Amino acid sequence: MHKPHPTPQRLADICVVGAGYVGLTAAACFAALGHRVRCVENDQRRLSQMRRGETPIYEPGLDGLLREGMSTGRLTFTSEIDQAVPGAEVAFLCVGTPARPDGHPDLRQLAAAARQVATAATGDLVVAVKSTVPPGTCEALQLLSDDAASPDVRISVASNPEFLRESQAVSDFFHPDRVVVGADEEATGSCIATLYPSEWPMLRCDRRSSELIKYASNTFLALKISFANEIAGLCEHVGAEAVSVLAGVGMDQRIGPSFLAHGPGFGGSCLTKDVSGLVATADALGYDTPVARATLDVNAWARGRVVDKLATLLGSLAGKAIAVLGMAFKAGTDDVRDSPAVTIAERLLAEGAAVSTFDPVAEPEALRHLQHPDAYSAVSGADAVVIATAWPEFAQLDPARLASVMSGRVILDTVGVLDPAAAAASGLDVILPGRSAMDTFHPVMVRPLEWALDAVLV
Ligand SMILES: NC(=O)c1ccc[n+]([C@@H]2O[C@H](COP(=O)([O-])OP(=O)(O)OC[C@H]3O[C@@H](n4cnc5c(N)ncnc54)[C@H](O)[C@@H]3O)[C@@H](O)[C@H]2O)c1
Repeated sequence: MHKPHPTPQRLADICVVGAGYVGLTAAACFAALGHRVRCVENDQRRLSQMRRGETPIYEPGLDGLLREGMSTGRLTFTSEIDQAVPGAEVAFLCVGTPARPDGHPDLRQLAAAARQVATAATGDLVVAVKSTVPPGTCEALQLLSDDAASPDVRISVASNPEFLRESQAVSDFFHPDRVVVGADEEATGSCIATLYPSEWPMLRCDRRSSELIKYASNTFLALKISFANEIAGLCEHVGAEAVSVLAGVGMDQRIGPSFLAHGPGFGGSCLTKDVSGLVATADALGYDTPVARATLDVNAWARGRVVDKLATLLGSLAGKAIAVLGMAFKAGTDDVRDSPAVTIAERLLAEGAAVSTFDPVAEPEALRHLQHPDAYSAVSGADAVVIATAWPEFAQLDPARLASVMSGRVILDTVGVLDPAAAAASGLDVILPGRSAMDTFHPVMVRPLEWALDAVLV
């Protein structure tokens, strides 16, 4: 049964600028709530796809909402900002803020979009920044908008950061842990807050706090993954099972299980960029953020460790045929931005390995020539296989068939999707990071006990 969408506190005409993962999801979901949404996208290819009712990105549930919004007439697409802004009460800026080499975000798309919106506005307008930005950005965009808008138009810039997860974006929009609205004027904040249903958890604050909430949240999520990887490495040294250790840690309600998984490290368009943005912002202010810096360092180590482990297992990588299964930065998305899998494949190539790849939906442009139509074809003749993305279909791979087409026996399952016992029955050697032979015993582990015994025996 189709569940009815929740009801917002009021209905409005809104405009969404940028139809990527965030903008298209927000546009389709706002239309589902009942708002009239005009979505502006300047990429002509994406625009024609959306006008045909197709989503240019892979996001479960989004295509249905897109078609629903278009069929009710509440969701329209244009490349002309002048057609989208006049008559709208709120314009949501959802354009990209990619990382610059120095760690700061590149805010050029955002500045251009804010200027275009302000120039196109024919009446008072609230501009809500959904893109992830460093604290102070909304204030800078306010100055820019005041400069670009005609004198009889008042633009009020506010922060409304987006917390959706790719692969669960639609569900995250309709079931948010919180909606954050940062505005320096009550009326501006209310104008945005009332577009959402009243029962959704809402945090209202000032603009800089709102901007920092997003940076701090992503830094904490990344920190949990780096912590899990650090503990998984320690598990290998003491002969413990990372899966059990992390499950036990995550069962503590003060900690929680999500993002407490070890693997090839975090990736995607947000985590590295936003932690780097937080570090760069703090650095510029002369404030040190050692925890955030360590989070990035451990992540780089986690990616490198996969290749180092493979080199140890195979003796050397040069000339070896290695299949990498999974290219997306995580399962359920086609996004390959900052994907650990891509880093791993590139490093294997740099070490002289012959690499073949497969992913159910993702296709990194630069590695397209390595891509195979299915997993068995990718692993055919491979000396070793790395599973780098936890696609559920990899758990269904037939070990006997894998063994029959591979040249070697080693499968490095960095995301723990395979059943090692079933694979072993087919003669495969599945290596799971975060565990080692339990029979390795290091006397150094019980050194405190030795000291205690010394004290007793004296
Ligand atoms: N992807 C995520 O999971 C996620 C989650 C939360 C927040 N964010 C943040 O949201 C922002 C957008 O992320 P994204 O992943 O959706 O980016 P994206 O690159 O997928 O989409 C941005 C879109 O904006 C369009 N665009 C750029 N300038 C434009 C303009 N002037 N007019 C019209 N269209 C324009 C681009 O063509 C592109 O389609 C970033 O700041 C990101 O950090 C992303």
